[in-house]
Amino acid sequence: MAVQISPSILAADFARLADEAAAVPNADWLHVDVMDYHFVPNLTLGLPVVEALCKATATPLDCHLMIEDPDRWAPQYAEAGAGSVTIHAEAAKAPIRTLREIRSLGARAGLALNPATAVEPYEDLLGEIDMLLLMTVEPGFGGQKFLDVVLPKVRRARALIERHGGRIWLQVDGGVDAETIGRCAEAGADVFVAGSAVYGASDPVAAIDRLRAAATR
Ligand code: DX5
Ligand code: ZN
Repeated sequence: MAVQISPSILAADFARLADEAAAVPNADWLHVDVMDYHFVPNLTLGLPVVEALCKATATPLDCHLMIEDPDRWAPQYAEAGAGSVTIHAEAAKAPIRTLREIRSLGARAGLALNPATAVEPYEDLLGEIDMLLLMTVEPGFGGQKFLDVVLPKVRRARALIERHGGRIWLQVDGGVDAETIGRCAEAGADVFVAGSAVYGASDPVAAIDRLRAAATR
């Protein structure tokens, strides 16, 4: 279970995205939060920015779609060149079809669950995904406080994943910092999104190294 760090550009300077991507050469992924003012009460960026960012960086994009109707839009993010496309279970009406489409377009398919959404009903979908994302804050904004109440679900998700061969990555997103990342790793997460803990730091490269070390410990 290799630790991976996916800095969230939600905490970066949107006017200088290419530079902000270049500022984290030791990141495994760049986490791109797509918000539509409907699924969450915030609006960020969409396909044109993802297309431009794909061309501007060699780091693969980890697109987290917090949007209504991901069935309609998610495949286009895979087509645009995202390495991973994650849809929310609460928003998808045809998740199996959409996850299969994402994969057929060459991207990794992710399924995200809000803090209060149980993981057990999705056990039969594990064969359709490459990553399970468990939100550790209510989605919509960066800089929120980590929700420890999600940790038992991280543990149960890890057990489910192991029962299904251990191939699926388990990502946590929200409030992940040098203090909380150890608890997430101990509970079984292996891919860590961090926005303010990376881009809010004076030295983002050192911040990623610190997070990686804390997660590996
Ligand atoms: C929240 C987003 C997160 C956010 C995390 O809805 O999905 O990716 O950027 O930001 P921090 O790490 O600051 O909690
Ligand atoms: Zn996110």
